[in-house]
Amino acid sequence: MTSTIAPATPAVTGDERTLSPAEYESWAAEVRRLADERDAVILAHNYQVPEIQDVAHHTGDSLYLSRVAAQTDAREIVFCGVHFMAETAKILSPEKTVLLPDLEAGCSLADSITAEQLREWKAEHPGAVVVSYVNTTAAVKAETDICCTSSNAADVIRSIPADREILFCPDQFLGAHVKRVTGREDIHVWAGECHVHAGISPSDVRAQVAAHPDAEILVHPECGCTTSVLDLVSHGDLPAERTRVLSTGGMADAAKNTTAGQVLVATEVGILHQLRALNSGTEFIPMNDRAACRYMKMITPAKLLDTLRTGRGVVDVDPDTAARARRAVEAMIAIGEPGRGGE
Ligand code: 13P
Ligand code: SF4
Repeated sequence: MTSTIAPATPAVTGDERTLSPAEYESWAAEVRRLADERDAVILAHNYQVPEIQDVAHHTGDSLYLSRVAAQTDAREIVFCGVHFMAETAKILSPEKTVLLPDLEAGCSLADSITAEQLREWKAEHPGAVVVSYVNTTAAVKAETDICCTSSNAADVIRSIPADREILFCPDQFLGAHVKRVTGREDIHVWAGECHVHAGISPSDVRAQVAAHPDAEILVHPECGCTTSVLDLVSHGDLPAERTRVLSTGGMADAAKNTTAGQVLVATEVGILHQLRALNSGTEFIPMNDRAACRYMKMITPAKLLDTLRTGRGVVDVDPDTAARARRAVEAMIAIGEPGRGGE
């Protein structure tokens, strides 16, 4: 099941704003005032619209935001991201109120496996260790031994004894990547995918590399093109020292340090705002300029303000499910050093 980004999806720069500079200033002042009043911390994923990335107290990748959610002293967490991320914050901080400015902000990847499907898969492989990407529902996490994100997936796999069979879900491209980097053969990978990343294709890579032959290349491991990029590297058609597979947080770290004139970026286009803010001397170019996540873009400046004014958008997780899911998320958090992440 390989999807493509719908052809009707318009091209974007990744820096689309809906507020003028003056509107941004007054909106941001009100957002911060209300957040202080509510004792709320605002967390934003790297794929959020620019205004929300800029106003948030913390902006980063899934692992970084999970760590902040687990450690914050704030009474409330306002999560500007998608539903599974807000659920993860609630799982880690059950005593806090977690708000998501649009409860319909889902994730096509999280939708690619249900708890029932995972239970059936486990029954076919008794004794296997279940590793689930954080892009899953709380109910799937509750059936999981250890979670992972794109920044720590290989470390999570390496933490599992070599004689154990592993079920990895739900992302087939991340699964293929961790198999490649860890050399583990006994990993069964679920055939799920994210519609945005699956749509960044090998032909996008060929066209963009031909148009920008000296550019560095950053690829998110959820991309449908990851294997073909690494094939180009192994055949000597792309220089290994200029090509990296990274989480969005790893891309931010790489952007800070690069001296390249151009960088091709294969992931959701919202990250481009973050990369350009971190390094104005480099041109960051989307590998596919239609790779926008409609769910991430459901969180708008107006909805964030509304949530802060009204307290609408409460995310709850059934306590029993949360307790079982927490073990899997905490097992992941215990691995590796805090940071914004990279593989
Ligand atoms: P990161 O953990 O790399 O930020 O990825 C989250 C995500 O949803 C990717 O599509
Ligand atoms: Fe889910 Fe893909 Fe959107 Fe990330 S980009 S939130 S994986 S649909």
